[in-house]
Amino acid sequence: MTRLAVFASGTGSNYDAIIEASQNGSLEAEVALLVCDKPQAKVVEKAKQNGTPAFVFDPKQYRNKAMFEAKIVEVLQEEKIDYIILAGYMRLIGETLLRPFEGRIINIHPSLLPAFPGLDAIGQAFDAGVKVAGVTVHYVDEGMDTGTIISQEAVKIEEDMTREDLQRAVQTVEHSLYPETIQKLISRGE
Ligand code: GAR
Repeated sequence: MTRLAVFASGTGSNYDAIIEASQNGSLEAEVALLVCDKPQAKVVEKAKQNGTPAFVFDPKQYRNKAMFEAKIVEVLQEEKIDYIILAGYMRLIGETLLRPFEGRIINIHPSLLPAFPGLDAIGQAFDAGVKVAGVTVHYVDEGMDTGTIISQEAVKIEEDMTREDLQRAVQTVEHSLYPETIQKLISRGE
């Protein structure tokens, strides 16, 4: 069974969706590890309840990114992780982690990249007044939301939508697109 490490820093609704898909069999993979850089994050509590092993760390306890990423690599190798699934992990991945997992790190971003990279992509789209927002799943490289695109889905912004409505609509799409995309990669052996 393919072993996934989900990296998250926040609420963990995508973590939930991936867990659900792995339990109902639509995703032939196991969430073998949660990696979280925010000890107080809601997703940490969820992992505890689900029995997902977790590596939770405080970056301030390390001298620099290379130091905490080296520790993460150690844990990933111990857990024999096949893919790293970024799900709201709000940090750029550095060379220390990228090199050993090149081509096996995937991210979800709440916009139709290359539009609106970076923080608060949904707010950026809303403020720009575009009529179509969306979701992108892509491979991770050293840039900010710049790796090769794997899948995308559009979300229409209706006239009367609030920012919160858009957030909900985008996240609903994320929760099906992410597990489906991961399953496609696994079944193609990519
Ligand atoms: C998701 O909407 C994800 O697309 C976004 O963070 C949210 C995490 O939500 N990621 C980025 O913006 C990455 N640049 P969640 O904790 O409920 O899964």
